[in-house]
Amino acid sequence: MNGPAGGPARAVLILNGPNLGRLGAREPDVYGRLGLDDLRQAAAGWADQLGLAVEVRQTDSEAELIGWLHQAADQARPVVLNPAAFTHYSYALRDAAAQVPLLVEVHLSNPAAREAFRQTSVISAVAKGVIAGFGFDSYYLALAELARLAAASA
Ligand code: DQA
Repeated sequence: MNGPAGGPARAVLILNGPNLGRLGAREPDVYGRLGLDDLRQAAAGWADQLGLAVEVRQTDSEAELIGWLHQAADQARPVVLNPAAFTHYSYALRDAAAQVPLLVEVHLSNPAAREAFRQTSVISAVAKGVIAGFGFDSYYLALAELARLAAASA
């Protein structure tokens, strides 16, 4: 797999927070009928197309997610993060996200159009940008932007 200038593909982590392992079964009217494995498969195709090397992870554990962000920070790896419910209250996750040089916050649904508690994100201020409301395409759009930024800085 080659990156934008024919060099090695840029490694990007897609990190997903709690309950996103239940995609497909969980509130399909809100989150769709496709599962996390479908996201993995789609992400592999997008990665090929965009010249990225993508790894998709999911955890229900705040500590594990924070550990992955520390790893990304140490390796200077860009991150696409769906923090799920942690979005709305986890200052610990925010402090970890702030250490990652390039992080895009994504959501399948549009939290701004949902319950009041979802309308606050404690993560957005430390993200490069936020993409929400487009289902799996939210992840695609985030990856496309990371690929564009990588090409622009090559
Ligand atoms: C979500 C939105 C959050 O409010 C919710 O807690 C999730 C998923 C989304 O992708 O739409 O678990 O992050």
